[in-house]
Amino acid sequence: MKKVLVLPGDGVGAEVCHAALPVFTLLNLPITLEFAQIGWQCWQQSAQPIPAQTWEKITQSDAVLLGAITSKGKQDAEAELTPALQGQGHKYVSPLIEMRQKLELFANVRPVYSIKPGQRPFRCVVLRENTEGLYCGLDRRGIPEEYRSWVTHTNIDRSGHQDVAMSVRIVTRFGMARIIRYAFEYAKTNNYPSVTYADKPNVLRESGQFASDIFWEIAAEYPDIHAEIHNADAVALWLVQRPERFGVIVAENMYGDILSDLAAGVMGGLGIAPSANIGAETPYFEPVHGSAPRMANRGKANPAAMFLTIGLMLEHLGFGNEAEKVKRAVTWVIQSGDTLTYDLGGNATTQQMADKILEYIQNAEGNEQGNVL
Ligand code: IPM
Ligand code: MN
Repeated sequence: MKKVLVLPGDGVGAEVCHAALPVFTLLNLPITLEFAQIGWQCWQQSAQPIPAQTWEKITQSDAVLLGAITSKGKQDAEAELTPALQGQGHKYVSPLIEMRQKLELFANVRPVYSIKPGQRPFRCVVLRENTEGLYCGLDRRGIPEEYRSWVTHTNIDRSGHQDVAMSVRIVTRFGMARIIRYAFEYAKTNNYPSVTYADKPNVLRESGQFASDIFWEIAAEYPDIHAEIHNADAVALWLVQRPERFGVIVAENMYGDILSDLAAGVMGGLGIAPSANIGAETPYFEPVHGSAPRMANRGKANPAAMFLTIGLMLEHLGFGNEAEKVKRAVTWVIQSGDTLTYDLGGNATTQQMADKILEYIQNAEGNEQGNVL
C-alpha cells in the first residue's frame, strides 16, 4: 500500500484536485489518500503556510499531490495576516519553495509535448534546478559594505543615494552536478536524444563558466546523448519556433521557472502542463499553474494538468500502466475537441471535462477486462 497525501491548497488548485480524485478509485490502485491543509488560509490564521501537522504527514507519505498555493509579495502577505499576528515580524516564505528546499527536491520535472489537434509533433522536458540559484533566499534591501564600491565604481547608481536591493544567484558544485547528472539519467531512461543546458554564460561569466565546466564534465560520461549549452534567451526563442529540436532542457531555478511556463504555453497553456518535484525526501506533484484567484469558484479551470500530474505521480510510484491510461484519456479528450474548458476553446466546466476523462478511463478499463475474459 502506498500513501499519498493530498494537499488541495488554494483557489483552482482545490477545484481541479477534487474533480480529478475519483481516478484513484476508478483505477483500483493500492494507494491510500490522506488529506491536510496548506496555503494562504493557514498563513493568514497562523502565520504558517505549512502547519506542523501537515509537515508530519508529508514526511510519513510516499508522495504528495498538491493543487496550488497562492503566493504574494512581502507587503501583501504581511498585511493579510489576522490582526493579532501582525507586526510580530512573521516572514512569508512560499510553501512551495520551503518544501523544495527542506525536502531537498532538487529536480523540478516539467514535461511538455504535442497534445492538441494539428500540433507539430514535439516532446521535451524542462528540468529546473529547484533548491538554489536565484531562489537561494539571499534577497535583501541594501547591500553589504564590501559591495558598495561596486555600485559607485561601476556607475550603476548615478544618484549617489546608494538606495539598492540585491538578489544573489548561488551555484554550488554539489547542486549543479546533481541536477546535471539527473538530466542525463532522465534523458537515458526516457529516450530523449539530447540535453541542453540553458544559462547566460555570456553575461554571468563566473557562475556561468563554473556551471558549464560541471556540465561538460558530466556530459563526457554520456557519449550517446547529444550535449549542448545555449543562452537561455535563445532557448526561449527556439522553444517557440522549433520545440521539436529539444529533448531535455536543464536550467538554473529562475531560468527553469520562466522556460517551463513558456514551454507550457507551447504545449497549449498552463491548464495542461504537469510537474513533479523529486529529490531526497517525499516528492510532491502539482500542476504548473497556480491558484488563479480570479478564476476561483467559477468551475472553469482546466483539470487536464491535474490528471497529467497524477499520471507523473503514478509513474513515480511504480504504476506505469495506470499512468499511461490517464495520459491516454487526457490526450483523447483534448484531441476529440469535445467537452473542453474555455482555455482550450470550449465551454465545459471543470467537472464536466474531468468526468469526460474519467468516463474514457472507465470505458478503457471495461474493454480491457472484457478482453481478459
Ligand atoms: C512555480 C511557481 C512558483 C515558483 C512560485 C509560486 C513561488 O511559479 O512553481 O513555477 O516561482 O517556483
Ligand atoms: Mn512558475
